[in-house]
Amino acid sequence: MQLSIVGSGYVGTTIAACFAEVGHDVVNVDIDEDIVATLNDGDAPIHEPGLDDLVAEHAGDRLRATTDYGAVRDTDATFLALPTPSEDDGHIDLSIMKAGARSLGAALAEKDGHHLVVTKSTVVPTTTEEVIAPILEEESGKTLGEDVDVGMNPEFLREGSAVEDFLSPDKVVLGSETERAAETLRDVFDPLVARADDPPVVETGVAEAEMIKYANNGFLAAKISLANDIANICKEYGIDSEEVLSAIGLDHRIGSAFLGAGVGWGGSCFPKDVAAIIAAARDVGYDPAMLEAAVEVNDRQPVRLLGRLREHLDPDGARVAVLGLAFKPGTDDVRNSRAIPLVEALLDANADVVGYDPVATENFREKYPEIEYADSAGEALYGADAALVVTDWPAFADLDAEFDAMATPVVVDGRRIVTRREGIVYESLV
Ligand code: UDX
Repeated sequence: MQLSIVGSGYVGTTIAACFAEVGHDVVNVDIDEDIVATLNDGDAPIHEPGLDDLVAEHAGDRLRATTDYGAVRDTDATFLALPTPSEDDGHIDLSIMKAGARSLGAALAEKDGHHLVVTKSTVVPTTTEEVIAPILEEESGKTLGEDVDVGMNPEFLREGSAVEDFLSPDKVVLGSETERAAETLRDVFDPLVARADDPPVVETGVAEAEMIKYANNGFLAAKISLANDIANICKEYGIDSEEVLSAIGLDHRIGSAFLGAGVGWGGSCFPKDVAAIIAAARDVGYDPAMLEAAVEVNDRQPVRLLGRLREHLDPDGARVAVLGLAFKPGTDDVRNSRAIPLVEALLDANADVVGYDPVATENFREKYPEIEYADSAGEALYGADAALVVTDWPAFADLDAEFDAMATPVVVDGRRIVTRREGIVYESLV
């Protein structure tokens, strides 16, 4: 099939390369000339395992990029993979999606034949039908359900394993309202489903597909927060939370994934999506108590971590090493990293902060140029009065002699990753 993908961020680039990999002809449309040139040169514009190889293999053949929206006319379906950031009050900001839909609609005005527009971005329920579709109709002059259809196909890929998650999904969710749209979506996904060993394909309505994404992310974020709630109770009793959580994970109704207690969840999806569905729920008159509590627990974890530090020293004037700046291991992404509230609180407390991360230092430096950065964990710890462990990079488990170079070896572990030993004052958050 001929497919177009609007947007070449994390999701757009990954799905463009993966659709080419399963045999479709794909054109990626983006307004950023540098990204378009990078893709056409056969390079991936983002760091993601396996993506480089796919782009290198298919660029110039089944994968190409352009800044010209007119390219969508030669395709059967367009996936909108544009950012949906948060407004200050948590509501979803649809301005980029609306602008993309306008350009797409204008391009479709001159298309002969049917076209399917699929929302790939995470959008609150009813957005595709009530916001995107009317823009498409207005700009293209076409009639919904006749010349143009809309669909929704949420994406569940994680940063750091995006290619693998896309090519071997747990499930494929296809939202549509007409048989024609459903058929086109099936045709798009058949080769992927066959290659991925037949994962379940959920055919549903457009708004249901939109909600499935929020339900998925909200549930996982709340699961981590519930694990943190339980771990906090354990801590107050002096009970080992890891033993408790790994035991409950053995119950197949609970499952062991996403019970990792610690300083909480960050990243580009969970905080944004949980805030957006809470705001959307309130707009329709429902107060989502569980999701609100999930956010509250998440906000408390960094505060509790600093509380642990204060049990040993006053951060005022102290040199504090922050180990881990990425929102999770395996990525250089610092969006909504738990290091952000921690560094801000340390700066407010007048601490002398030195940050270290194996790969995310430069991204963090852009946000916080005022703190010091070290090139290694050892350098960060050298002469420090305390260390806060914020991201569970596996290498932090191997730190040993580095602690001996600290002025006072107080280690406050937000992820239960450091190996305890004689000679360090070890304090864990959970
Ligand atoms: C997430 C979803 O997993 C993915 O399906 C969706 O498409 C996008 O959002 P991602 O943000 O890449 O993916 O990261 P993920 O691996 O889910 O971790 C999110 C956050 O939760 C990280 O900050 C991580 O450190 C934290 N986390 C995860 C925990 O604190 N404990 C856990 O047990 C698991």
